[in-house]
Order: sequence, then structure tokens, then C-alpha cells
Amino acid sequence: MTANEDFFREKRAAAVFKHGILKRYPAIFASKAGFRVQGRRVVFVDGYAGRGRYDDGSPGSPLLLVQAAEFVTNFRNVAGIFVEKNPQHYTRLVRVLAEEADGLRYETMQGDLGERLPEVLSRAQDAALFVFLDPFGTALAHQELITILERDGPPTEVLLHFSVSAVARLGSAVKQTHTREILAPEDQKKVDRLNRFLGGDWWQAYFTQVAGDDDLGTATSAALDVCDRYREIIKGETAYDSVSMPVRPHPDNQPRYVLVLFTGHVEGKWHFADTLGKAGMDWHEAWRNDLVARDRRKRESSGQATLFDMHTDLPIFDREKYRKTEEPKWIAAVEENIIQLLATYGTFRLADHVAEVYGQTLGSAWIPHVRRAAQSLHERGIIGAIGKDKRLHLDPIVPVRPS
Ligand SMILES: C[S@@+](CC[C@H](N)C(=O)[O-])C[C@H]1O[C@@H](n2cnc3c(N)ncnc32)[C@H](O)[C@@H]1O
Repeated sequence: MTANEDFFREKRAAAVFKHGILKRYPAIFASKAGFRVQGRRVVFVDGYAGRGRYDDGSPGSPLLLVQAAEFVTNFRNVAGIFVEKNPQHYTRLVRVLAEEADGLRYETMQGDLGERLPEVLSRAQDAALFVFLDPFGTALAHQELITILERDGPPTEVLLHFSVSAVARLGSAVKQTHTREILAPEDQKKVDRLNRFLGGDWWQAYFTQVAGDDDLGTATSAALDVCDRYREIIKGETAYDSVSMPVRPHPDNQPRYVLVLFTGHVEGKWHFADTLGKAGMDWHEAWRNDLVARDRRKRESSGQATLFDMHTDLPIFDREKYRKTEEPKWIAAVEENIIQLLATYGTFRLADHVAEVYGQTLGSAWIPHVRRAAQSLHERGIIGAIGKDKRLHLDPIVPVRPS
């Protein structure tokens, strides 16, 4: 079984994060972005759809998009497009969707996303468009992303799975061979792949500090910097801003991938950050459960006592208890971030500085925590009254000058 085949066996904690987003965010997009579109038309595209379902029964991204569409079906006219290149995966996908997506208008396409893109975009013409791009590694071409973002018409958003581990691996492999004048064909292939994905060879400068194949820490941090630069380049080329969230299998691990939402609208950033907090809770539960399951398997195979025999309270993850313990810290951190923003900008809108408002709490806190932080600053006499209900992020945060 290849690493890619293994992917579909069971859903790992890191995948839980991306699925936590897909469970929530596309429905919000449909509701917000589809509002002004004629006929309330919205299209969800899964460009690297996979098999539809994992072998352990959990839904893959196509089924999560189907569920999101069902959620808004009474007030939005949603259609799905699912593209998958691998013929075996495609056959499975078609079967899964036939069994479970009867409420949704959808189309499946077999083949390479890049080749099917003109057809996809023509089907989505005049509709608000949400595209999920979840390639293995670096399969996406830079120009394909640009083509999607530059289409004319109603709002478009793209959620990209940027594989930090693939970029780190390929980038450091190329660095190791770069002392040679002429690259071996297999190394040249790696260079070409990254050039195609990142839209040029600018990324090579980021890997100069990587010491060797086992210097994973430096390679990962180079890949994270490459991701930030990539977002800036896309912004320069398309004016699409983005919010990004690095995702780890476990809090002590290096990030494996970054989820990036490209959006042209402040509402997108604001609601995406909210969703990241809720998905972060799913992820927290999942890595804890992964740990417990792994420990149990180890114990069963060795017959020995392990970590959780000694700490029997550890396995039970209580979401409510966790939230209640953690949220005072999140709120305090957001308060500090807002104070910093006041020092830098004076009056500002939360919607224009979403990443800085959340800071380290991105992926943990969500909108009510930001509201409580702003409310607390108001009660402490640091800022004026805050926006009510849906105006929180849109009304200005005004510093109160000491009299
Ligand atoms: C990471 S998996 C997708 C998992 C799926 N999004 C999920 O969360 O359930 C990536 C999929 O993209 C497919 N793929 C790879 N290259 C592709 C391409 N150029 N066009 C379309 N699909 C491709 C692979 O066969 C694989 O099934």
C-alpha cells in the first residue's frame, strides 16, 4: 500500500481539522455570498475529491460538501462539482455520491483538475463559487489557482490545503543536490514540480539553511515561510487576501499542512477565523483520541501497563470542560492583541485585522471570545462601545483618550 493509498484507510487528527472546516464554512459562504447572486446560485467544487468516504466509514470532503449544501438547501440553490483523476478513486466516489447525495444537483468529472477547469468554471458561471483544493503534495499548478481567482462574476473563494511536509521534503531534497552544476533527471523533476506549484523558482532561496535530509525542523520552517510568501504572491497577482492556519497531527509536532482561505471579502476572513476555532476543538478531541487508541493498541500487543493506566483521567476529553478552562486565556490574549492594534492604528475595524486580532488563539477562540474581549476592554474604559450583534467586526474600535 502506498502512502497515498494509506491516506484513505482512516481519518487522522490532522484531517479532522480540514473536515471541521468543511463541515461548517461552505454553508456560511453559501449563505453570505449567495445572497446577492441571481437565483441564489452557489457552486461547491471539490477539485481533488478522492473516494468520498474513508475506509473506516468517516465522510471525506465530497460528503461533507454534500452535507453543507443540504444545510442551506431551503434558501440557496446549490450544485456540486467533484473532480477526481484516479480511476479507482473515481469509481468509488461515483458510488458513494449516488448513495448519499440524492438531495443535491451535482456532477462528477474524471480527470486532471487543470484540464477540467474550463468546464468547471463555465458550469459555475453566474454562481457564487467555493472551491476546495486538496491535492496530494504539490499537484496543483500556480496558474490553475490564479485562473479560478481571476474569473469574472459573483464571489469566489478557494480553500487550499498547502502541504508543508511535501514542500519541506522536496525543497530540502533539491537543496542537497544543488551543489552540482547539472541536476540528475529525478532531481530536476522535483524542481519542476515545485516551480509549477509555486509559480517560479523563488522558493529555492528559502532552503539554503537546511543542513541535511534529517534537518526536518529547518526544512519545515522554510516551507512555512514559503507558504507565507506564496500567499503574498497570490495577493499581488489577484488582490485576493487570505487567512492561514498551520495544522499539526499533535500539538508537539511540526505542522504538516496549512489551510489557506483565499477570499476577496472581509466577511470571508471573519467567519473563516470563527470556523477555525470550532474546528480546532474537533482537532483537539481527535488527537487525544488518537493517542488513547494508539496506547490501547500498544498495551494490547505488549500486555504491559502504559501511560493511561497510570493517568486514567487523561483519555476522557470533555469539550465543555476544556472550553471553560481555556477560554479565559483566549479572551485575555485577544484583549492584548486589540490593545496592540490600538497602539499601531488608533481606530480600526476588527474585520480588517482578523489574523492579528486572533493572533495565537487562531484555531482556538471564535467570535464570542472576541466579543467578550472587546466588551471587557470597553468596560475597562480602554475603547468605546462595540458594535452590536453582526456589527462587531464592522463598527470601528475607537480608543478612549485619557481625559
Ligand atoms: C488528499 S486526496 C483527497 C482527499 C479528499 N479531499 C478528502 O478530504 O476526503 C487527493 C486526491 O486527489 C487526486 N488527484 C491527484 N492529482 C489530481 C489531479 N491533477 N486532478 C484531480 N485529482 C487529482 C488523488 O487521486 C486523490 O484522490
